[in-house]
Amino acid sequence: MNYLNSADWTYPVPIHYGPGRISELPEMLRRKNLKRPLIVTDQGSSDLPFIKNISKELDKKGIHGELFDEISPNPLDEDVLKGKLIYEQGNNDSIISIGGGSGMDGGKAISLMAGREKNIWDFNYENSVDDNLTDFPPLFCIPTTAGTGAETESTSMITNTVSGMKLCIWHPKQKPVAAILDPNLTLSLPQNLTAWTGVDALVHAIEAYCVNSLNSVADGMALEALRLIGENLKRVISEPDRIEARGAMLIGSCLAGISFLKGLGLVHAISHMVGAVYNTQHGLTNAILLPSILKFNQSEINHKINNMHFAMFSKPGNFADFYENISNLLDELEIPKSLKEIGVQEDKIHELAIKSSKDSAAFTNPRQASIDELKNIIHSSLVGAR
Ligand SMILES: [Fe+2]
Repeated sequence: MNYLNSADWTYPVPIHYGPGRISELPEMLRRKNLKRPLIVTDQGSSDLPFIKNISKELDKKGIHGELFDEISPNPLDEDVLKGKLIYEQGNNDSIISIGGGSGMDGGKAISLMAGREKNIWDFNYENSVDDNLTDFPPLFCIPTTAGTGAETESTSMITNTVSGMKLCIWHPKQKPVAAILDPNLTLSLPQNLTAWTGVDALVHAIEAYCVNSLNSVADGMALEALRLIGENLKRVISEPDRIEARGAMLIGSCLAGISFLKGLGLVHAISHMVGAVYNTQHGLTNAILLPSILKFNQSEINHKINNMHFAMFSKPGNFADFYENISNLLDELEIPKSLKEIGVQEDKIHELAIKSSKDSAAFTNPRQASIDELKNIIHSSLVGAR
């Protein structure tokens, strides 16, 4: 790293951590004089008791919360447009984005669109930013998985139903006004989702740390995330009710989410497109892809491996150690050993490679991949990922 370079770093939003902190949400809205929030969540989370409870608790403060629970597991542009209309018809004044990554991304995307006549793809990360936009609805983000780390920033991954690509949308002036990290909300997460979302957080930290740019704030967060995840991921599987471990994972996930302000890498570039084409679970797809991409990146990340190994496994290690220990962890978490096992077919390799090459995460991967190299990576993950 060249420490003669200049760099600009931005911290994200106020974060309120602690078991039971969800109870503070009504007062947070009241203090901002918000009276009609739209509660946005994903289809898989809408039946959770604490989501049903939010409206009741808001009612006690004279706040009317309306629930929109039609966000798909891989959120679609159509879901966002539907939510935008409901927000406008309901005269809502704020958005509570609660759930896993999809619920939060859906809510954040609706917050970009609400009350304005814009095409959703005007907010594409690769387009120039419209500086005239400022009046976004106040946004509260509450993760129910540890996880996605999507609670501190404004980007959302949304599937374009015309092109079949998952694209990043955002606006730099739309930041959540608060993120609430309440580990109680993650207790009911089933074992498979606990593992898959936990590996998503792990991959965020690894990919962010491996991005070649000077961001010591993000790097510090990525390594602390790896320490917390390394200590606690297996614990939340073996002792799912252990609130300290759930809390540590939620903090780890949040730190990993902040760290990827630096960018991500090829695991996410390929996983986004596999998700868009096959509607696969994001964390699970990442987990299967991770070993192949570690191998592809080896020459460019060798000098970073010992720090990551020490953070995760509390002892020094070289690339072979890191690869083996990560693979063992994935085995213990019962992650499938090929993309084939989650339905990916060989005849889509070319399409997935082309689409992945255009994903913004591909550009921050430490080693640039040609289309042929992407095809090789996808093929190796299809036939035997580790
Ligand atoms: Fe992710």
